[in-house]
Amino acid sequence: MNIIKSIDEMKQWVATVRIAGETISFVPTMGFLHQGHLSLLDEGRKRGDKLVLSIFVNPTQFGQGEDFEDYPRGLEQDSQLAQQAGVDVIFAPEAKQMYPSGYATYVDVEGITNTLCGTSRPGHFRGVCTVVSKLFNIVQPHNAIFGSKDFQQLAVIKRMTLDLNLPVEIIGMPIFREADGLAMSSRNVYLSPDQRKQALVLSRSLQRAKEMVSSGETGCDVIIRQLKMLIEQQPDARIDYIQICHQLTLEDQTHVDADSVLLLAVYVGKPRLIDNGFLQAES
Ligand code: PAF
Repeated sequence: MNIIKSIDEMKQWVATVRIAGETISFVPTMGFLHQGHLSLLDEGRKRGDKLVLSIFVNPTQFGQGEDFEDYPRGLEQDSQLAQQAGVDVIFAPEAKQMYPSGYATYVDVEGITNTLCGTSRPGHFRGVCTVVSKLFNIVQPHNAIFGSKDFQQLAVIKRMTLDLNLPVEIIGMPIFREADGLAMSSRNVYLSPDQRKQALVLSRSLQRAKEMVSSGETGCDVIIRQLKMLIEQQPDARIDYIQICHQLTLEDQTHVDADSVLLLAVYVGKPRLIDNGFLQAES
């Protein structure tokens, strides 16, 4: 496995692979890999001849006062995990390579970014779309694999790929959870043991909402009110948003139907955790 830091070197590697007629699967990450990332790499391994993992803590997607400086990093451990997962290349550029002096171009997706994380983290998706489109141009993958814990991010990247006619297939993978239900996230390391227990309120909220729906409740306001009470029982929990949205438009719904997704963002102590799930049992 190679670790490539230079954009030019990465492009040369890509050219050689493509000339040989081989396909490239790509998993973009900010590193500090966990089982969720490994499930994306497994999928990538199956879908392409070569597998590229990018590790880049992208400064443009963090707002002022967010955790860019503190974001957990660990290239050495990530390399070992990547090697075991069958990664061919880790692309780990420096920020000054990606955003050299004079850098002035950004990618903005409108509409579906004006809600949920887009509201609480202004500029976040502009940073995500900018870096993902740059990474697509450098790595030129045939497919790119994203987790669906970041449900809105996946929807935004699909929109951008379609709108800009980018020649890459976007694949969304299910949320990977700890045995007790907590969605895996690099930010879970910030939780104290007590907050780790409190954080289970996110997955419990999803469960509670699904139970309400299966016992006949369809009013989004009623469900959201219940979840608010449940979450506020946790001393360190602070709700950022609880919304029930249409899976494609991400518009708020008044009544639950087969397209309804519940999306949650809750601070538990320092970290802001997100989770989501469809509300109607699949028939
Ligand atoms: O989901 C992430 O880890 C990041 O937002 C991504 C897609 C790698 C862009 O920096």
